[in-house]
Amino acid sequence: MQSVRSRRRVREHASPLQLRGSERIETENSFELRGSERIETENSIELRGSEKESRNSKSHSASWFRETRDSKPNTMSSPRKFFVIGNWKMNVDKNRINGIVKMMNKAALDPNTEAVVGCPSCYLSHAREHLSPSIGVAAQNCYKVARGNFSGEISPEMIKDCGCDWVILGHPERRTIFSEPDSFIAEKVAHAQEAGMKIIACLCETTEDRKEGRTKEVLFKQLKSLAGAIRDWSRVVLAFEALWASNTGVFATNQQVQEALALVRDWLRNNVSEKVADTTRLLYAGSVNSGNCREMAALKDLDGFLVGSAALKPDIVDIINARRGRVSEILASLRIEDQQG
Ligand code: PGA
Repeated sequence: MQSVRSRRRVREHASPLQLRGSERIETENSFELRGSERIETENSIELRGSEKESRNSKSHSASWFRETRDSKPNTMSSPRKFFVIGNWKMNVDKNRINGIVKMMNKAALDPNTEAVVGCPSCYLSHAREHLSPSIGVAAQNCYKVARGNFSGEISPEMIKDCGCDWVILGHPERRTIFSEPDSFIAEKVAHAQEAGMKIIACLCETTEDRKEGRTKEVLFKQLKSLAGAIRDWSRVVLAFEALWASNTGVFATNQQVQEALALVRDWLRNNVSEKVADTTRLLYAGSVNSGNCREMAALKDLDGFLVGSAALKPDIVDIINARRGRVSEILASLRIEDQQG
């Protein structure tokens, strides 16, 4: 017989885990949809047997995973709410946005995750108007003053005027392709904060940095510059981007991700404050997808993801839901409770 507690737990977890395959099929546009394949993928994520299970239990014995993470769904009691930003970059038009928006609005997203999309500036108002209010909208860049003769730029004030309150600053593509130095990024961060924006500030490690063992050096240098510009850490999320693992065919291991994030958190502890170190959310970016997000979501110092390519696909739903309890775990915990009487 199931105990009352067991039955209650099943009910609590049943609805978020419902699959919404057919609704996804309806969301066709230019958006990449894989209706039935998707259902299978979700089922396999939730219910797949021994291979995934044993891989998880083996790696979860490592100390860099949260001790209790994989046996309990995330709860609001954490001071760091799980955060996922799907950055569309310059890969969308209105039609594609409509498909993604429809899919995200209909999906059963984990309410314990703060979800945001990174939208090209010309579509900010459109995205804000059509996305569910529970999903945030971020600009992908902004300039360091409110207004003036700066052709081609947008200001935080304009982003707010479009109804959006997030901005990504210091994205690796800005740092590398557009040669934005730390000092310029810091000026933009300072002004965006003054203007009341919430900021996703990126830290970037290139392939050369990684090859030459400069991880700590480059992260600390970028952190120092950013920290000098940040007044209110409660409105900043930091994203560590392993550029060497972003669309390169190379994937960062869980250990590499955890080590880099631990460096960032330690730096905050030693150079800003205990409180900022304990409360600032640290994201990982670099080829996050529906296949690797769940294990990574259990890393001790990881509080979410900045997602590029997978943000254009239904994978983003799995990534937003990466910390949701799996059916197999819930069933297993019920069996244990029942045995205990
Ligand atoms: P990716 O992009 O997930 O495609 O690697 C991440 C980013 O740079 O925004």
